[in-house]
Amino acid sequence: MNYSLLTSTNPAEIKSDCIAVSIFTNKQLSTAARQLDNAIDGIISKFLSIADFSGKCGQSHLLYTNTGQCSCILLVGCGKENEFNQETACTVIKKASKKIAETSAKHATLFLLDTLSERIICEQSMRQSILTFSDSIYSFNKYKSTPKEEAKLEQVCMAFTTEPPCDVTKMLAEGKAIAKGMHLSRDLANQPGNVCTPTFMAETAQSLGRQYDSISVDVLDEDDMQALGMGAFLSVSKGSKEPGKMIVLHYKGTDNSNRPIALVGKGVTFDTGGISLKPGSNMDEMKFDMCGAASVMGTINACAEMQLPINLVAVLATAENMPSSQATKPGDIVTSMSGKTIEVLNTDAEGRLVLCDALTYVGRYNPEIVIDTATLTGACVVALGHHISAVLANSDELARDLIDAGNEINDKTWQLPMNESYTKQLKSSFADLGNIGGPGAGAITAGCFLSKFAEDYEWAHIDIAGTAWKGKNATGRPVPLLSQYLINKASN
Ligand code: BES
Ligand code: MN
Ligand code: ZN
Repeated sequence: MNYSLLTSTNPAEIKSDCIAVSIFTNKQLSTAARQLDNAIDGIISKFLSIADFSGKCGQSHLLYTNTGQCSCILLVGCGKENEFNQETACTVIKKASKKIAETSAKHATLFLLDTLSERIICEQSMRQSILTFSDSIYSFNKYKSTPKEEAKLEQVCMAFTTEPPCDVTKMLAEGKAIAKGMHLSRDLANQPGNVCTPTFMAETAQSLGRQYDSISVDVLDEDDMQALGMGAFLSVSKGSKEPGKMIVLHYKGTDNSNRPIALVGKGVTFDTGGISLKPGSNMDEMKFDMCGAASVMGTINACAEMQLPINLVAVLATAENMPSSQATKPGDIVTSMSGKTIEVLNTDAEGRLVLCDALTYVGRYNPEIVIDTATLTGACVVALGHHISAVLANSDELARDLIDAGNEINDKTWQLPMNESYTKQLKSSFADLGNIGGPGAGAITAGCFLSKFAEDYEWAHIDIAGTAWKGKNATGRPVPLLSQYLINKASN
């Protein structure tokens, strides 16, 4: 999809297959709607005077015309004008993209963010619009012999009757960059487990390194990890023929020697549960157990597109969790890179095992902040469902910054608590730690487990078990959240 911009434009003076304009509550015409209406003999106001169209948020109607200027006008209800925000923008653009897809329009011009007077709301709505549009046209059909009919729409123009109150060129670029990162993340995650192996993840990272001068990639293989003493990670990949990989990406966006921000992602390319085998129903969805790693890769892609002036290091812990005669067994004790010993009481709690060594490893880059993201626990889905990701952190300030960033870009999170009482649930009879904390508060005890390996820096963990995919389709979350956090970080 091509996106473009037009500011200080009268809709009566442009040519486009479809022009979308806002109608506010009580049939109130927006500036763009009024200007267009004046130029086409009041077609819009005549329609509104007889139709059940009040302008409430999410309403829409296509008016076909023969004015020569455009073949259809899309009226979109935007609710109360002074209540328009990034969430309304999301609803409105989603609706508009659906309606436009019903037409044969190749070129659409949207005057839907017009009349925003606040800079922040303009910025958020602008980014949000691009994400929403690109989400609405996303599909993954690499493996269908007869692919779905391609969308006809080629060009979307975001248009304004005045000079908008924010840097729309910049916001468009940011929106496009984040959408690109989400696309990469979703494509990776939607790949089946027999294609998207740790090796495939490493190849994808390396190709990203070839595309951008600002990105470089190192891949640690199992011998390297053995030499580093990553016994926790290796206990997971051990049962599989697919070799595990620790993938390290560096993004250099500035020459300053500030400590980097680190992103860590769980990349279990398929989670059978191992010897603690999962039940069969919906096990196919465990191909999505690498969404943490995929979203970190997507975020690095977005940062490189935006050329954000920060330095990042990303560590993707990629492995396949399989049962076999070589697999780790319940009760096995392994030594992590940190030196802490772990009793693997359940081989299905494997995410924390690959992540704990990644968290120790990333310490060598002396990071200012470390954020890991993972489809870590079913308990997180029980706690928060599919709408909101969980944040756990050893720094309330960092948790706050992540929650704020998520709200800004509509990729929401909620903080869960951590304290010593929960950590105690991880006691083992034989080792320093067990890898499970019993039936209560599973998302929290998983966070507590990770916190034991993140004591040297400010750290937050984002559990995306409920948000990384929806039905059988990856969502690309939390690429927007991480990107927004880093945009904010870069501007401070
Ligand atoms: N990848 C799963 C978590 C998961 C389950 C994510 C369902 C999304 C949907 C993780 O590796 C896992 O199996 N966790 C166990 C931990 C338990 C054994 C302590 C779980 O949540 O059941
Ligand atoms: Mn598991
Ligand atoms: Zn898992």
